[in-house]
Amino acid sequence: MRYDLLIRNAQVVDGTGAAPFRADVAVRGDRIAAVGDLGDVTTTASAADEINADGLYLAPGFIDVHTHDDTNVIRTPEMLPKLSQGVTTVVVGNCGISASPVTLAGEVPDPMNLLGQAEDFRYASFAAYAEAVEAATPSVNVAALVGHTSLRSQVMDDFARPASDAEIAGMERLLCQALGEGALGLSSGLAYRNAFHAPTAEMEPLVAAVGRAGGVYTTHLRDEFAGLFGAMDEAFATARHGRVPLVISHLKCAGAGNWGGAPHALEKLERAARHQGAHCDCYPYTAGSSTLDLGQVTDEIEIVITWSEPHPEQARRPLADIAADWDVSLLDAARRLQPAGAVYHNMSEDDMRRVLAHPLSMVGSDGLPNDPHPHPRLWGAFPRVLARYSRDLGLLPLAEAVRKMTGLSAANFGLDDRGVIRTGAFADLTLFDLTTLADSADYETPIAPARGIEMVMVNGVIGYRQGAATGERAGRMLRRTRRITDAPSRPIHPMENL
Ligand code: ZN
Ligand code: CU
Repeated sequence: MRYDLLIRNAQVVDGTGAAPFRADVAVRGDRIAAVGDLGDVTTTASAADEINADGLYLAPGFIDVHTHDDTNVIRTPEMLPKLSQGVTTVVVGNCGISASPVTLAGEVPDPMNLLGQAEDFRYASFAAYAEAVEAATPSVNVAALVGHTSLRSQVMDDFARPASDAEIAGMERLLCQALGEGALGLSSGLAYRNAFHAPTAEMEPLVAAVGRAGGVYTTHLRDEFAGLFGAMDEAFATARHGRVPLVISHLKCAGAGNWGGAPHALEKLERAARHQGAHCDCYPYTAGSSTLDLGQVTDEIEIVITWSEPHPEQARRPLADIAADWDVSLLDAARRLQPAGAVYHNMSEDDMRRVLAHPLSMVGSDGLPNDPHPHPRLWGAFPRVLARYSRDLGLLPLAEAVRKMTGLSAANFGLDDRGVIRTGAFADLTLFDLTTLADSADYETPIAPARGIEMVMVNGVIGYRQGAATGERAGRMLRRTRRITDAPSRPIHPMENL
């Protein structure tokens, strides 16, 4: 047997949730060629390159299901914030904002400005975007959703109202073309002011088009605060009506008055999942981050400004301090800072842990790669789940934590032959040292690669080794080629596997 690479004696966490087992993993070309005891290299197997993984864990490469890396995979194809965490695939286009199918001339509507400047929006079709990704050859694979706010930006000039029938038809045309060209589905960001005025009746025909094409619907809910449960009901109903599997983005109970709501939110998710495909994603932090939203300005939580166009000198400072310096109210200070970005410390640790541990949740970083002082989730989300929440706190077994960032994610987004270690699957692999694994990024120093990620392979090519990118980039554009199932998603409780 001739292999290109042999990883010896690894503790394999295969992505299915099964308990780790000791094995050798062989790679030939872009695929896993064998898994098991591959014997003595001189007799049965030989490989050009051999890695002794004794004492290390080997997992499928992590799939970041919630990203805003749309233009970064083209502009900064090294993708170090993700690659250095062991991420091998990013799903872009979340929260209603995507780089395609979009062209923009003037001002970039909020929060599309999280993705880049006007000149970064130049992909009139999904196909053009996909070709640009392929030309850039990022270090990680890319799969993409189409954003509802992005569609609005192409057919409407006033976002503060529902779309007309003709505008909905225009959005549907753009969406259907993108779905035909390989988009995974549709995302929405109904809490944002430029989408908030879209009623359920605007979403239904779009989501139904996704259902006919066999895609997925992800949604940043209309309300993550006091109206969370109603917003969840709206999302379930819209997805059921369109016969699409639903992913609720970054499920959280935001705002000091709403803490303690996670058990009920998860119960609702479980109940829905008995009748329809329903999951959520989440990140392992108690602060959110986005553009600065006047509706979220309050003195009940700490809000830290990360960037401000008119006042860049105020970045990294608490909004309360800025307001005090200027001798104005929090709201007035926020108004003066806009457009701006912020980190909101608006969740409870207990709620966050419950969502993270729940069998229907996946891990998604929601990292903001264009923020000069980003939320630490951009560089730390995945190692933090494994090191802090699984290893240190025992919140969930390692195999279950890995399943939430690999096998479950691949299944929910229709990424065939990824997210799992088995013969024939793509060789997207992450090798890590669980004893030293740590997310180094924090709120003070958010730009910092994780420790303990020993090797990251994408499509059979080693892209990261010993703390540095190798310079070889082998990421691909992953176009949807089949229907993503909308079957009810019975939660598999991790304890059933033990
Ligand atoms: Zn969001
Ligand atoms: Cu997001």
